Amino acid sequence: VVETALIIPAAGSGTRLGADRPKAFVELAGRTLLAWSLRSGLRAGCGLTVIAAPADLLEEARAIADAECDSLNVSRSLVAVVEGGAERTDSVSAALARLETANPSFVLVHDAARALTPNEVFIRVIDALRAGERNVVPTLPVADTIRTVAGSTSSVEDLATSVDRSQLRRVQTPQGFRTEDLRAAHRHARQTGLSATDDAGLLEAIGIPARGVPGAEAAHKITYPEDLRTARARLQGE
Ligand code: C5P
Repeated sequence: VVETALIIPAAGSGTRLGADRPKAFVELAGRTLLAWSLRSGLRAGCGLTVIAAPADLLEEARAIADAECDSLNVSRSLVAVVEGGAERTDSVSAALARLETANPSFVLVHDAARALTPNEVFIRVIDALRAGERNVVPTLPVADTIRTVAGSTSSVEDLATSVDRSQLRRVQTPQGFRTEDLRAAHRHARQTGLSATDDAGLLEAIGIPARGVPGAEAAHKITYPEDLRTARARLQGE
């Protein structure tokens, strides 16, 4: 029996990164972002992983998975690859369908783009699930002052009041759930056409509030070219 499974949505195009290939397949110090993310999940003890990859990169995703399994000496059968969808939610849904038979107690959903997420973040999320939490989200405080935009008449914006940043959190992954809750949340999202930028938002919509555990700066989502440079520097600093 698998206690904790892992879903890695890796089917985004990643146009903001400006690379010539989908973001999860971009290299960082000799490993693709997908390989780094899979590696962290396997090391954290996730018993079964499903990767959602772009349709034309299924074989490449399979090869990446096999290489990481071999290097960590775990069975290749622990990792499955499915075709992702148009939106991140569709990709997670497709991966979730693949977990039907294994029926793990918990599922973590982790962005391929958060390639350098430390093991302790995975462990904190899993521990919270074991302790009975149902919608677990790693978060960090906000350092900048944040304002909302009131309007824009030219290239200069009108800025409304600033938001109390002590009340704000940046949300990361892996996010952790009970498998049946994540299934119910995705079913509800499909039926209502609801979309959210993460899975915690989908659970919230069915009445299961999100709960935060400490995230990590290293779990930053690689989105822009400078994020890749920061990640590279982080690895060299180790
Ligand atoms: O675009 P963004 O950085 O928010 O994507 C977060 C994660 O979701 C990435 O790992 C990306 O590959 C994945 N994704 C996906 N399917 C999509 C869009 C994004 O699996 N259709």
